[in-house]
Amino acid sequence: MKIQNVVDDIYRLAVNIEDENYLFEGIWPIPHGISINSYLIKGEKNVLIDLTQNIMDFPRAITEQLEGASLAVEDIDIIIINHMEPDHSGWLNEFCKKNTKGVIYCTKKAIPLLEAFGEVPPERAVAITDGMTLTAGDYELQFFDTPNIHWPETMMTYEKKRGILFSCDAFGSYGKVGNDTIFDDQLSQEKHKFFENEALRYYANIVATFSPFVLKGLSKLASLDIKTICPSHGIIWRDNPSVIINHYKRYAEYSKGPGEREVTLVWSSMYGNTKSMLNLIVQTLNKRQIPVHVFQAPGDDIGYILASAWKSAGLIFGMPTYEYKVFPPMSHVIEELLVKKVTNKKVFRYGSYGWVGGAQRDFEARIEKSGWDLLNFYEWQGAPTEADKQNMIQAVEAYCDELIKFTE
Ligand code: FEO
Repeated sequence: MKIQNVVDDIYRLAVNIEDENYLFEGIWPIPHGISINSYLIKGEKNVLIDLTQNIMDFPRAITEQLEGASLAVEDIDIIIINHMEPDHSGWLNEFCKKNTKGVIYCTKKAIPLLEAFGEVPPERAVAITDGMTLTAGDYELQFFDTPNIHWPETMMTYEKKRGILFSCDAFGSYGKVGNDTIFDDQLSQEKHKFFENEALRYYANIVATFSPFVLKGLSKLASLDIKTICPSHGIIWRDNPSVIINHYKRYAEYSKGPGEREVTLVWSSMYGNTKSMLNLIVQTLNKRQIPVHVFQAPGDDIGYILASAWKSAGLIFGMPTYEYKVFPPMSHVIEELLVKKVTNKKVFRYGSYGWVGGAQRDFEARIEKSGWDLLNFYEWQGAPTEADKQNMIQAVEAYCDELIKFTE
C-alpha cells in the first residue's frame, strides 16, 4: 500500500493482512482480510499514532510509507499508543530501539504493557489523563480514556482543530482496504454493504463483550464535533462519520435487546433425524416473514455464527442428545455465545434422542444465567413422525408470535 494524505499534513500509513488462512487474534477467520492503519502527523513535531503488527513485512512497509513523507523512523518525536494489543504495538520494540528520542503517550494502564509486550522502559512514556491536550505544531491533540474499547488501557486521540478522531479499534471493521477506496465517499453502495457486514462481524468477534463500555465511550465522545473518523482497521469516514457511529451504537445496544426481528438457527445432527426438521422450521419462519440465518455445527465458523446471533433477536438451536447431554459441537457454540455475552434473546430448542433424552436438561442448565428466554422446546425419539412434524410447526408458530411481540 502507499502513504495516503487524509488532510493537511495528516497521513494514513497502512498494511493489509491478505492471507486468507490467517486467523485474527488466532481465532477469527478473515477471508476478506483486514487493514491495520497507523497515522502520521508531519510538522514541527512529527507524530505517529499507533504502530503496526510485527508480522510479515509490515514494519518495513510502514517504514517505506514514512519515507514517502520524507521521514525516517528516527524522525518521529511523539508516539501515541492508543491501544497495546499487538496488532497496533507489535513493532514497538524494534521501533523504540531505532528511535530513541520519541516520547510515548498512552494511558497509565498501558505503561506496564509497554514493558511486558515491547520491553520498552516506562521512562519513555507519559501517562495521559482524560481530556488532556498536547500541542504538536499546528495540531492540537486531545486524549480520551475509553477503557475496554477494546482493552482496559485503550484510549482515543482527537485532533481538535480539524475534528479528527483517531479511534483505534472503535469504528473499525474487517476487510482489506484498497489504495483507491480508503474514504467512505470513494465506496460504491456494494462496497459500503461489504464493510457494514465486516464491521458487524468485527464488532461481534472483538468488541461485543465490552458493549456497556462502548455505550459509555460513545456518550463521552458525543459532545465532540467529529468531522472525520480515522480507525485503526478499515476505511476512513470523512464524508459521513455518523454512519459508522450509528452502526456502533446499534451494535452495542443489541446487548440490551431486542436485536433485529431475525432468527439465527444453528443445527447439528448425528444421523439426519434432527436435520430432517430443518426445512420445516425455515419454511414456518419464512411464512411469518422472519428472516432466518442458518448455520451448521460443526461446519460453520463460530465467528460468523456470533455476528449473526449478536444481531438477531431470536436464536433456535437444533441438536440431538449425545450421551445424555448437549451434542458436543453445539456445546462449543453455546459456550462461545455466552463468553461473548450474547444476551436478551428469545430461544427455541429442538432435537431427536435415541434411548433417552438429556440434551434439554443440559441445555437449560448451561443457559441458566445467559439472559436468554427459552420460550419452548420440542423433542422426539428417533425419526420424526407426521404428528411430530405437525407439533413442530405449532411450536415454531408459537415461537414466532412471541418473537414478533418482543421486536415490536
Ligand atoms: Fe486492533 Fe484490540 O486491536
